[in-house]
Amino acid sequence: MTERLPGTGAPAPTAAPATTCRSDEVVMIHRLFRRLFAEAPGLVRAVSPGDTDRARYLAKHLHGITALLHVHHRTEDDFFWDRMTERAPACGLHVELMRRQHGAVSDRLDLVDALVDRWSRAADAATAARLAIELDEVDRLLVEHLADEEREAFPVLDRILSDAEWDDIHRHARRHKPPLPIFVLLGLMIESVPEGERDQWVATQLPAPIRTAYRVVGRPQYERAVRRLRPTRATGAGAPATA
Ligand SMILES: [Fe+2]
Repeated sequence: MTERLPGTGAPAPTAAPATTCRSDEVVMIHRLFRRLFAEAPGLVRAVSPGDTDRARYLAKHLHGITALLHVHHRTEDDFFWDRMTERAPACGLHVELMRRQHGAVSDRLDLVDALVDRWSRAADAATAARLAIELDEVDRLLVEHLADEEREAFPVLDRILSDAEWDDIHRHARRHKPPLPIFVLLGLMIESVPEGERDQWVATQLPAPIRTAYRVVGRPQYERAVRRLRPTRATGAGAPATA
């Protein structure tokens, strides 16, 4: 990343921690966001005008995913950019880009939330069309931002953040009450892992008690939620039998 920017002449960061691959954990979360926001406009467009039951149900889901993305970006804002500026000063342009992209996504999410509220009251076709267009725009901004972040920021963060700092970031993120039911969120997360890597991801990333709880209680909850969210699609893209 740093090769692509003009140098500032600043000294190399001191006491740099050993390079980690901890940003891979955030890439997993990005995959979840890509899937959730890619399907959102189609979910809205599929609702028949006047179907307020469906609109109210989807409103809850849409508010859940916008809240989830706000929390994710706020966590990155709190823990990444000041440290990147301080420890890798040559990356200043990329930090600026990340802050600007987060701001643009946040503004669009606010518009989406307002339209979701309006749409859920009457499920009218005009508001549905506007909402779907705004969701398309969030998806477009997000696809661009996540790719830029993974390419331009994560290799640097892997170099400048210690394992203890990554642990602290994850602890902080877990303190927020998830805006979607936890097992539904976990199921959606598992389904966003490429199929060939899914069993291994579950085995290595989820503690045994969570795996057991998910198998017994969580997976049925997730499957019910997905059948309702995507009534025209087969479920089961998600969790492996061993989960
Ligand atoms: Fe980000």
